[in-house]
Amino acid sequence: MRRCRRQFPSVIDITTHIYPNSSATHGGRATTVRVIVGAQFGDEAKGKITDFLASDAQYVVRTGGGPNAGHTIHVGDEKVVLHQLACGVLRRGVTGVCGPGMVVNPAQLESEIQALDDRHLLHGSIVISERAHVLLTLHQLEDAWEEQTRSNQSGGAGLGTTQRGIGPAYRDRYGRWGLRFAELVRPDLLEQRLELLYASKPYLSNLPSREELQRQLSEIGGRLAPQVRATEPILWGAIERGENIILEGAQSALLDVDYGTYPYVTSSHPTSAGALVGSGIPPQELDEVIGVTKAYATRVGVGPFPTEVGGEMGEYLRRVGGEQGATTGRPRRCGWLDLVLLKYASRLNGFTSFAVTKVDVLGGLDEVPVAVGYRLSDGSEVEAYPPAIAEELAKATPVYRRFAGWPDFNERLRERIRREGAHALPDPLRRFLEFLAVQTRVPVEWVSYGPRRDETVWMGRGARTPTAASLSPWSS
Ligand code: IMP
Repeated sequence: MRRCRRQFPSVIDITTHIYPNSSATHGGRATTVRVIVGAQFGDEAKGKITDFLASDAQYVVRTGGGPNAGHTIHVGDEKVVLHQLACGVLRRGVTGVCGPGMVVNPAQLESEIQALDDRHLLHGSIVISERAHVLLTLHQLEDAWEEQTRSNQSGGAGLGTTQRGIGPAYRDRYGRWGLRFAELVRPDLLEQRLELLYASKPYLSNLPSREELQRQLSEIGGRLAPQVRATEPILWGAIERGENIILEGAQSALLDVDYGTYPYVTSSHPTSAGALVGSGIPPQELDEVIGVTKAYATRVGVGPFPTEVGGEMGEYLRRVGGEQGATTGRPRRCGWLDLVLLKYASRLNGFTSFAVTKVDVLGGLDEVPVAVGYRLSDGSEVEAYPPAIAEELAKATPVYRRFAGWPDFNERLRERIRREGAHALPDPLRRFLEFLAVQTRVPVEWVSYGPRRDETVWMGRGARTPTAASLSPWSS
């Protein structure tokens, strides 16, 4: 990353206007390309952090996933949930890109654009990669069929997908049956591609009429055509000009199809490596990889979650944290911060800093547990690498370290933090954050303490980078 990245002489140092309270320096050069990655199981408030950092970006790119995402952003008194559009579309002067790695439902995309426009919230512009794949209603039908089949086979729940058709759309993509936006806007190619796609699904009896689908897609393709572009050259040009790009993660590292808790994962790569493949930006152009983690943990859907807490405490976190799925409305499972998984995610993604969100939700608790290791069913202990088999991970017993709690985030405290910056954060919270940084060897750079745009505080760059070699979390 930064070591091998070439320097752009035209880049100016923007430190002072993004971080006016900061006395730290950024080495005299502005950031150009940042990746924002969810460090847990999704829903870490990546949308809020992306929106915050987008104030200084020219491009925000969604690099994977599709309508399974639900990025919640508060703009003044308005609450916005974006599903397929990149957060940048809410800001003037920013282009939101639906990147090549996405699977996009075009009808839902049109509705999302229309809804934002109706609310006068569409300030940026939109481009859609010609290489992004088209997700269709038939993929949703397949998703439902697969979930049903899995439940029947296992006698229990399926994977708990969002039922938005994500798995089947990626299967068509990698099986090379897929329809891309490049073809969606070419009526001469559409018929042939749809015929092939339909021929690949003899097992589905309730497919919608192909002729009717073709007619609908031609119309949608015609309307979206002006926005369908070769997005990689646009981004390469932006890099040449020294402009700022954010690669906006959706889903999260522990839902990665290879590195997550397989098979309870999504079908894409929501990691920093996946963001590069999903945007067409090469690795040496990356400046920063920001991992977003809550101060606790949540998971929606089925799958292992070692630090899950039930009972009254689980209910408390759900209620105070508003932990309800933004896409499906499902209640999220809640639990404590898990450093085994966080160290793993840090290593996997190469986080250069953390944004820690929702610290206010834990305000007022007497103590805050953090899992620092697991005892596995064979009697062994691990600290930094979870078992690959989901059933083993589900049986892991977390070893907790307990931290003193911090005060309630009342309006007076929030006001002090807004005025004075990170110095006003309560001491017990600072100790908690320091522990997180030392254990993962990743500095905490941003802390979010509420949903509003101005409730994010900058901690300083590298301020918590530990130096002791003895703290290596990778030895277990
Ligand atoms: P799919 O992505 O709809 O196939 O769902 C696979 C798994 O990923 C399920 O457990 C979903 O609940 C989870 N998932 C997918 N997208 C998100 C997200 O944006 N936030 C949290 N969980 C997600």
